[in-house]
Amino acid sequence: MSDAIFLAYLVAAVLFIFGLKLQGKVRTARKGNMVSSLAMLLAVAATLLKINQNTGTGPGQLIPPAWIFIIIGIVVGSLIGAITAMKVQMTSMPEMVALFNGSGGIASSLVAIAYFLLNKNLGTETTLADAPAIFGPSVAVTLALSVMIGGITFTGSIVAYAKLAGKITGAPILLPGRHFLNFGMMASVLVIGALLAFVVPGNTMVTIFLLVLLFMVFALGVLLVIPIGGADMPVVISLLNSYSGIAAAMTGFVLGENLLIIAGALVGAAGLILTKLMCKAMNRSLANVLFGGFGTADSKGTSGKEGYTNVKEASPEEVAMILEDAQSVIFVPGYGLAVAQAQHANRALQTLLEERGCKVRHAIHPVAGRMPGHMNVLLAEADVPYESLVEMDEINPEFKNTDVVIILGANDVVNPAALTDKDSPIWGMPILHVHEARTVFMVKRSLSPGFAGIRNELFEADNTLMVFGDAKDVLQKMILELKEA
Ligand code: TAP
Repeated sequence: MSDAIFLAYLVAAVLFIFGLKLQGKVRTARKGNMVSSLAMLLAVAATLLKINQNTGTGPGQLIPPAWIFIIIGIVVGSLIGAITAMKVQMTSMPEMVALFNGSGGIASSLVAIAYFLLNKNLGTETTLADAPAIFGPSVAVTLALSVMIGGITFTGSIVAYAKLAGKITGAPILLPGRHFLNFGMMASVLVIGALLAFVVPGNTMVTIFLLVLLFMVFALGVLLVIPIGGADMPVVISLLNSYSGIAAAMTGFVLGENLLIIAGALVGAAGLILTKLMCKAMNRSLANVLFGGFGTADSKGTSGKEGYTNVKEASPEEVAMILEDAQSVIFVPGYGLAVAQAQHANRALQTLLEERGCKVRHAIHPVAGRMPGHMNVLLAEADVPYESLVEMDEINPEFKNTDVVIILGANDVVNPAALTDKDSPIWGMPILHVHEARTVFMVKRSLSPGFAGIRNELFEADNTLMVFGDAKDVLQKMILELKEA
């Protein structure tokens, strides 16, 4: 590798790390995305030059065949990526990430397989059993791991996508003896992987073993994700994101590409950290998410719209009357705000209240919405100042001194059952203590439960008034009334 190419790889690796760091904060996330994209461009350009160098392409033949495939791949991939990214709704972003993870997983597997099957150094009689001798044991093992992890990521991500997009039921599908089945499958996959890497003789046998392994990991990906409820899919997607990174890193070992190892490891670690943060915010262990069957009929407790006897209602006009005298207001955005696309109306009401001398803040729960940072991104889009977005731990002591809380399409993240009902599936989950405020207005369309599918005592609390309707319509009516006041 020439010094220039080596330097380009080094710069790309540093930019990947720097880009990821910038993405950690809402304010710098866009810049982080640009920096990471630039790193990827640099990495691809350096790789193309490396291919040129390795194939010894002279000045007369600037475009070796590998370039053509790579350029076609970049153009087709970029087009698909750009069109889907422009079309996708913010609320469907987790589905899109699931499909991206799946693509990453299968790409890693296929590249690893192709590398082995097409490697020019291998004679026709060479088998994967010779791989340790030819590539060294680490490559043989990482080759098998790349196929396994990439395959599981692929089908697991497709099931996660189908659950979130409503293509299949979001409820956990619990097969009898599933833990035994999954354990058996996992053990078999590991045995076949080990046989492939070290024992299997003969080219035909290797191909058969590779196909069997692929089939088994595809099945395992499905089996591991179907028992997980739709409500837990964002966590699963984050975990699969981590897997896709690990698969890419393994492929990096196979190809001897340090940059792929670094980029894959970054994705793997970032996905794992995010998974941990999400579990913590829901007060659940990863094992509970993966094996708990959360969201089944018996884990929900009393659910649905029935059984509420003491619900009080207020109209947007009545809310506006209370707001006229309010000194402090906290908005609590949730998934419904995103569905209603009510962030701009929310910002307009905030401005109106602030002009009247009212102190306005937004309480941000770490898992409000359907993906990490969902609320921050939505509100930033409507130019809500960062200073008015307050994290849960910081805002919770403030509720008891607050005149009015307006909940905009949030439900689970304000459900007091998490504090009071030991039998509730969300028992122990940290929530926003909205019930401590003087008056709580809960804006939603009906008495339907939230994502966790459970009853919410807050609907009947003495200081709560339900404001039924689409969050955007309700906010617009409040704005009109307040302007006329
Ligand atoms: P949810 O508990 O899902 O409640 C959203 C509420 O929005 C629903 O009750 C719905 O009631 C209402 N709604 C829907 N469309 C609306 C509209 N157009 N106008 C007004 N309201 C509307 O939301 P949340 O409080 O944000 O909680 C998030 C949930 O997702 C939690 O259970 C959390 O654990 C889970 N989750 C989130 C994440 C991340 S990272 N965010 C990850 C894993 C799990 P109506 O149908 O009556 O309107």
